[in-house]
Amino acid sequence: MAQQIPKVLVTEPIPEKSLAYLREHAVVKVGAKGEFQNETNLINTITDYDALLCMLSTPVTKKVLEAAQNLKIVANFAVGYNNIDVESAKTLGIKVANTPDVLTEACGDFAMGLLMAVTRKFNEAERYLREGKFTGWEPMGFLGMELRGKTLGIVGMGRIGQAFAHRARTFGMNIAYHNRSKVSSEIEHSLNATYISSIEELAKNSDVLSLNCPLTNETHHLVDEKLFKLMPSHSILINISRGPVVDESALADALHGKTIAGAGIDVFENEPKVHPDLLKAPNCVLLPHIASATFETREAIGMLASKAIVSVLKGKHDSNIPNLI
Ligand code: GLV
Repeated sequence: MAQQIPKVLVTEPIPEKSLAYLREHAVVKVGAKGEFQNETNLINTITDYDALLCMLSTPVTKKVLEAAQNLKIVANFAVGYNNIDVESAKTLGIKVANTPDVLTEACGDFAMGLLMAVTRKFNEAERYLREGKFTGWEPMGFLGMELRGKTLGIVGMGRIGQAFAHRARTFGMNIAYHNRSKVSSEIEHSLNATYISSIEELAKNSDVLSLNCPLTNETHHLVDEKLFKLMPSHSILINISRGPVVDESALADALHGKTIAGAGIDVFENEPKVHPDLLKAPNCVLLPHIASATFETREAIGMLASKAIVSVLKGKHDSNIPNLI
């Protein structure tokens, strides 16, 4: 009997190199932008697909997984995978992959850039110039916080947290961190990083608090009204992890009420929606979840996800697929 060619559903357009690679091994359907952010669309389509390459905005729920009769692997085009019900996938014998490592440097660069944009008021100053308000060099205009000698408190000292910390060190910042467990003494030493076992203590002692942890039940609303009150009033919050790690309404209040001095936010609680009070808040740079958005990185993400799919479809042993969860 002729072997069936497997079917792969890619939920959104991704770099062509990955699609070409997948097409060498499978019949590939590519969804339109946003099409499969809708659970029902996904349930109705996934039924006979062998593999799913999805986005962090694709809700891969238990219902979706149960509707998929042939599914062998879900590969997320992202390192974070809180959009996938991993437990249900495991129960159903469906493998799950993510894309660690390949986006670490892009995210480290981005976090540093976002911090600079907030502390040096890039967006605010640019708007001022575009509005024709720049009438000459001002000794007191757009003064921001210098980074040298300040403390960067990192919540979640994984790959991306470390990449940010390395960059911040070259700007002369001191590094403190909070993590489920201490990182190795080699890493601590290379970053001159101090472990702080309580997030409250970290918040009190940081000039910049950066969220680099995954979204889990434990980290949901980790940063809330209570924590904002502990942060120094000159401090800045940076979030490039997941929106729900922060209570977005409390963040808007903290910015409006000047409980903290500013924020750089790339992720939101209910993407693509942004809390209306946050849109009007002062001293914050709000970006549409673009930390890993470089040509090089998005191509690498696509290839890593696609390779996991092809490996599973070819029956390779799990130990040869480094990015299975
Ligand atoms: C992006 O947010 C990712 O998890 O890769």
